[in-house]
Amino acid sequence: MIDLSQKMQDAINEQIANEGFASNFYLALAYWCDDQALEGCKKFFMRQAEEERMHMLKLYGYMSESGICPVTPAIPQPPAQFDGIKDVFEKVFEQERKVTTSIHNLVKLAVSENDYNTQQFLQWYVDEQREEEAVIRTILDRIKIIGEGGQSLYYIDKEVDKINLEVMAAEAAE
Ligand SMILES: [Fe+2]
Ligand SMILES: [Fe+2]
Repeated sequence: MIDLSQKMQDAINEQIANEGFASNFYLALAYWCDDQALEGCKKFFMRQAEEERMHMLKLYGYMSESGICPVTPAIPQPPAQFDGIKDVFEKVFEQERKVTTSIHNLVKLAVSENDYNTQQFLQWYVDEQREEEAVIRTILDRIKIIGEGGQSLYYIDKEVDKINLEVMAAEAAE
């Protein structure tokens, strides 16, 4: 059994809420894309929604292992209106940056408390955030190259679908 300080328990519960929000945010984006007939982007966001749920459940597992019952959060409604696919991915990047900051703050807390177990546990999230940010940055770069307007949406969707395959292949190789 691991001892988690009250402060750490609160911070992890807060992170559970962050990951839960991220999951619903991606779900909302998946169906915004569905509405725009962007099948590749829909697939991308559906997979992301599942991943964020997995991130959330991993935190439940860690709390449970430490003998603590996690708090299942109320989840605020994610945004529903976007100005286009570039706007969507820019918002996604902002959202991931926010999560990265919250993970880094958790690490800072764990370090300040000499909580080696939580530091070790969080390393997985540190890596995951770096990888997720890199994928979104790649997509934003490709959107910049393709441009917006005309038939570009079709090509952007195809590019995102390619990235789906790349990410799935990378995960299978792990
Ligand atoms: Fe996450
Ligand atoms: Fe994420």
